[in-house]
Amino acid sequence: MIKTLLRHVGRFKTASILTPVFTTLEVVMGVLIPYVTAWIIDRGIMQGNMNNVYLYGGIMIVMAALSMTFGILSGKFSALASSGFAYNLRDAMFKNIQTFSFSNIDKFSTAGLITRMTTDVSHLQSAFQMVLRISVRAPLNLVFSIFMCVFINMKMSLIFIIAMAILGTSLYFIISKTVKLFTQVFTKYDDMNKSVQENISAIRVVKAFVREDYENKKFASAAKGLYKLFVGTEKLMAINHPVMSTVVYGCIIALSWFGAHFIVAGDLSTGQLTSLFTYVMTILNSLMMLSMIFVQMTMSAASGKRIVEVLDEKADVTNPEHPVMSVSDGSIKFKNVSFSYGSSEYAIKDINLSIKSGETIGVIGGTGCGKSTLGNLICRLYDVNKGSVEVGGIDVRQYDMERLRNEVSMVLQNNVLFSGTILDNLRWGKSNATLEECREACRLAVADEFIDRMIDGYDTIIEQNGNNVSGGQKQRLCIARALLKRPKILILDDSTSACDTATDAKIRKAFKEAIPDTTKIIIAQRIQSVADADRIIVMQSGRVVGFDTHEELLKHCDLYSEIYRTQTELSGDFDEKQKGGAA
Ligand SMILES: Nc1ncnc2c1ncn2[C@@H]1O[C@H](COP(=O)(O)OP(=O)(O)O)[C@@H](O)[C@H]1O
Ligand SMILES: [Mg+2]
Repeated sequence: MIKTLLRHVGRFKTASILTPVFTTLEVVMGVLIPYVTAWIIDRGIMQGNMNNVYLYGGIMIVMAALSMTFGILSGKFSALASSGFAYNLRDAMFKNIQTFSFSNIDKFSTAGLITRMTTDVSHLQSAFQMVLRISVRAPLNLVFSIFMCVFINMKMSLIFIIAMAILGTSLYFIISKTVKLFTQVFTKYDDMNKSVQENISAIRVVKAFVREDYENKKFASAAKGLYKLFVGTEKLMAINHPVMSTVVYGCIIALSWFGAHFIVAGDLSTGQLTSLFTYVMTILNSLMMLSMIFVQMTMSAASGKRIVEVLDEKADVTNPEHPVMSVSDGSIKFKNVSFSYGSSEYAIKDINLSIKSGETIGVIGGTGCGKSTLGNLICRLYDVNKGSVEVGGIDVRQYDMERLRNEVSMVLQNNVLFSGTILDNLRWGKSNATLEECREACRLAVADEFIDRMIDGYDTIIEQNGNNVSGGQKQRLCIARALLKRPKILILDDSTSACDTATDAKIRKAFKEAIPDTTKIIIAQRIQSVADADRIIVMQSGRVVGFDTHEELLKHCDLYSEIYRTQTELSGDFDEKQKGGAA
């Protein structure tokens, strides 16, 4: 794990190496200064020798200045290295996520990916900075200061050893408990982010259903879980301070008491006692720092693991070694295809279909019967578990993915528009499309009429998620965007469900006339949307139960005639009249 992470230090390696170097120099200076202080007192002040005071004072100032410079440099480089590290990690994660297939994303959940890219990386960033600076400084300070103490007075050093033992044991108990709590924090973070993400992105639905209270409660419980954990850990951490103070003051009293005795006996000078005071503080402080590092490291180990999971995740839909670069025609074949989304249950099972290039195919069936799944497999958003899907006579897994998806354009059921102008959104389909091409695509998708009515026309700004256009308008823009690719196969997954039947019919008519060679797969709930297709696939519980023309299906397919009967009886009359009126 550490190896994978360190690979991402990249061009910030120099800064990462310079940080501990400057920290070491800073520590050396810092440790020597109290020693010089002792000289000033013992050889200068105590002996009334002003020359020595000036001399050692000068040395001390130079050392202090150097220590400060080294400190600033190590701070600068550690900031550079750690933010660079975070930048590299996020960049690499983002790039890898872009290669993810739908099933990769299903595995992590969108909320999970967001936490990993934000909170987890931040944890790792501060841990990295700590490692570079403090984890070098604290042990060095500790070792040097102990060495200096022993060097100054062996017997007095016993006091520190006792103090260190007391502090060390209590720290150990506190830390081991804290770590346990921290490891739980991250699953709670995922919970909370999920709640935030679902709620904010669906805020309109929440409001429409007057579910604010429910959502507030849900969020509160997720946030509370996190709060409790943090309070728990902070409580434990807070015990550190009284323990630390007790030990420090205990040490000072002991030092003063023993120190006085030693000075009277002539074994210790006043200056030496002063520097011992400084060293004891440094030693205890370093111990405290070390324990903090330990907590931080455990916390970031959890984060590191979660980041590496994303970095190491291999896209499970990938390009073949020698990809086929062109799709010859829009024919589609399903050969014994079965597919499941990971659970034991198949979403579709044993599908055999043969669709000719240029045909218009309707797909109908109840919700959850596998219609969208069928479409997803054609443009290889997911790979089949069994059998094969062929486009233009070649297995979809043998194509270059980009080429395949340019030729097989799918308008997803829950499609999104991005913030930007209408033109920006259309050009998502084809970045270099001219205004004329965009107009033509919009004409086919029957989007031109409402765009032309807008004051800014094609330059109208679309808000995030397309919140300022109606559902039907959004669907038509998505269709136009897909058309701009001039695909050989166009799959519309319930893409006109929010359009009135007249518009729906207009779109189909435009398709028939303008893109007769494109294979059109029209997935729909309304029987009118598919009735005039060349052939219709009727699906039930993941299986194809009928595949024929409207007339034949009415005669032979029970499910189809049942759907037809209920839809025309219940709402069809109204729709028919409206259609007649508009024509
Ligand atoms: N991303 C997914 N992860 C897990 N199960 C899914 C996913 N998408 C769809 N399913 C399941 O697969 C089955 C078929 O879904 P789908 O093809 O979307 O049906 P339809 O489009 O006909 O409504 C359903 O039972 C649905 O719950
Ligand atoms: Mg669907």
